[in-house]
Amino acid sequence: MDLLGVDYPYSTSALSGKHALVCGASKGIGAATAKMLAKAGADVTVCARNEHALQQLCAEMEALGNGKHHSLVLDLEDTESLNPAVSELIEQRGTIHILVNNAGGPPGGPLIENSVSDFDAPFKRHLHASHILTQLVIPGMESTGYGRIVQIISTSVKEPIPNIGLSNTLRGAMASWAKSLSRELHPCITINNVLPGFTNTERLGSLASSINQRTGKSIDEVHEGWMSQVPIERLIEPLETASAITFLTLPASGGIRGVSLAVDGGRLRGI
Ligand SMILES: NC(=O)c1ccc[n+]([C@@H]2O[C@H](COP(=O)([O-])OP(=O)(O)OC[C@H]3O[C@@H](n4cnc5c(N)ncnc54)[C@H](OP(=O)(O)O)[C@@H]3O)[C@@H](O)[C@H]2O)c1
Repeated sequence: MDLLGVDYPYSTSALSGKHALVCGASKGIGAATAKMLAKAGADVTVCARNEHALQQLCAEMEALGNGKHHSLVLDLEDTESLNPAVSELIEQRGTIHILVNNAGGPPGGPLIENSVSDFDAPFKRHLHASHILTQLVIPGMESTGYGRIVQIISTSVKEPIPNIGLSNTLRGAMASWAKSLSRELHPCITINNVLPGFTNTERLGSLASSINQRTGKSIDEVHEGWMSQVPIERLIEPLETASAITFLTLPASGGIRGVSLAVDGGRLRGI
C-alpha cells in the first residue's frame, strides 16, 4: 500500500506553516507519521536515539518536496536533557504546533514477575517525557493559536492484552494523563490518542519472538493467533496508523478532543 502515492489522503498544503515534533520517529509508526506530516506540508523535526536512521528519514522527507525537516537525537529516558534540547529547538526553528508523543514499548511477560524498578524506564520515556514535552510546547501553541498533541499508545487502553502487563499499566496511565489534560488545555489546543492494533513494525516482531521463547509457539503460530482476532485478517500498515494521526493534527480536527482512536482492524470488541 502506498499511501504517499496515489492514495495519499490529505492536501499537500494542509499543514503548511506548521512545525511538527515527532518522537520515536526513527522507525515504525513514528517514521510513517513523520513522512505523512511532511507530505501534508509541515516542517517536521524527528527525534529518537538512532541518528543515522533519523538522517535517512530527513532525506526521504526532503525528497517529498514539501517543508523543511530536521533531526534531533534524544533519549526520552534522559528526562533532564529534554528541556534544554527542545527549548533550543524552539528557539532555532520556531514554535512547535504539532507534538506526537511516542517511544518504544516495554518488554512483554507476566506482570507479576516484574520488579518495581522495571516500571521506571518505560514510565520515563513515555509518561514523564510526554509531560515535559507538552509543558514545553504549550506556550508557543497558545501564542500562535494552534496546537495538536497526539500520543501513540495501544488498544490495551481499552482491553488489557495478556502477557504485556507492564505495557498495559503504562498505556492506561498515558490515556488517563491525556484525558485529564484535554479538560485543562487552552481551547486552541487538542490532545488525543491513537491506539495501534497489530501493526507491521519491529515492535510486533520482538513481541512475537518473546512469545516464541516463553511458550515455544512458532512465530507463524503466534502470527495466526493474532490474525484470528482481527476482522480485516491482516496486519495494519504503519502508514494507515499515520493517516489517523495526521488527521488529528489538521485544522479540520479542532473539534476532536480527548478521544482514543483505535486503528486495529476491528480487533476491539467493545462499542
Ligand atoms: N506495532 C504494534 O503492533 C503496536 C501495537 C500496539 C502498540 N504499539 C506501540 O506503539 C508505539 C509505536 O510502535 P512501533 O511499532 O512503531 O514501535 P517501534 O518500531 O519499536 O519504534 C519505536 C520508536 O521509539 C524510539 N524509541 C525507543 N526508545 C526510545 C528512547 N528511549 N528515546 C527516544 N526514542 C526512543 C525508537 O527509536 P530509537 O531506537 O532510534 O531511539 C523508535 O523510533 C510503541 O509504544 C508501541 O509499543 C505498537
